[in-house]
Amino acid sequence: MHFPKKTIITAMLSCCIYSFSQAQTTATNTSLKQAYQKDFLIGTALNTAQIEKKDAKATALILQQFNAVTPENCMKAENIHPGWDKYDFNLADKIVAFGKEHNLAVNGHTLVWHSQLPVFARKIVSVDSFKTFFTNHISTIASRYSGKVFSWDVVNEALNEDGTMRKSIFLEKLGQDYVTEAFRLAQQHAPNTELYYNDYNNEQPQKRAGCIALVKKVQAAGVRIDGVGIQGHWHLGKLPLRDIEESILAYHALGLKVMFTEVDIEMLPRSFGGADVNQTMAANPSLNPYKSGIPDSLLQQQAKDYESLFKLFLKHQDKITRVTFWGVHDGQSWLNGWPVPGRTNYPLLFDRAFAPKPAYHAVLALKN
Ligand code: XIL
Repeated sequence: MHFPKKTIITAMLSCCIYSFSQAQTTATNTSLKQAYQKDFLIGTALNTAQIEKKDAKATALILQQFNAVTPENCMKAENIHPGWDKYDFNLADKIVAFGKEHNLAVNGHTLVWHSQLPVFARKIVSVDSFKTFFTNHISTIASRYSGKVFSWDVVNEALNEDGTMRKSIFLEKLGQDYVTEAFRLAQQHAPNTELYYNDYNNEQPQKRAGCIALVKKVQAAGVRIDGVGIQGHWHLGKLPLRDIEESILAYHALGLKVMFTEVDIEMLPRSFGGADVNQTMAANPSLNPYKSGIPDSLLQQQAKDYESLFKLFLKHQDKITRVTFWGVHDGQSWLNGWPVPGRTNYPLLFDRAFAPKPAYHAVLALKN
């Protein structure tokens, strides 16, 4: 089962459109997915409770606003492949069923990533055994969900900021060609699934150049790669709009679809950019200034940021196939726990009470 963009759009058109009682807009479009249905898919990441529909309000919001989902954690190697011969497909199967039931495109995340690896994989010493792990992992998971997920983030975060290859266990054991090999295996075992490379900061010129070189290498080997995902973990007032636009054009010029796969706008202070999960900071009250509420001026600024971002996305809607937020609402965003534990962050379009924020209205207003 393949889901070309137009098919999904037609399917979504026929989907029920719920009225959004909390929205304070008088606009015609009453949800993100409805407003952007002719442009690109609007996705969200789902955590375990959301996949298991444990919170009826969250489920209602997900189904009302989004037409694509990405598992936040349950398809990562440590969860889905906890032992050499042991796989746990429980939650992954559930998100696939959730997608099928509600007509949502599921993006598998992710087959090859240096982080959230199972303990046993880190302990593999011999190159041959690591190769076997790599091959078994990709072939088992890709074939199980072949035709059931719309797409895969085949490889996640293989690059350093300067565009060179990250010194991960994959590079160390398998050498420079492991990215191409991952795509080759995914293509073989998931022939009808779109295959993407995904990274953060790959809109930045140096990392973008590395990303382009990586894609060209895969293409030169005659292996299929369908798109590049730009994660989009950005900061209030610091959106790199020019770099983003140049990247959309550059990736599109390679014949690729462009996606924004993990969008959020960080509202709290920190000493570094990017989204390297290995980088953390110690908790400190000065790093958590909006524990009991955020000033409206900052929410207005965030609305402006999201507005300029979506204006740019709309300008290039012919090249962009999906924009996914990394979480449904502020209360469950990963940015409450990273890079500083225990903070109160406000990066998404819906607040802790599931109510739409100024940013939501700004994004919707662009289409009304
Ligand atoms: C994050 C999840 O949101 C967290 O729950 C988890 O603890 C760590 O990983 N880039 C990615 C995502 O590709 O998989 C990461 O997700 C965020 C950064």
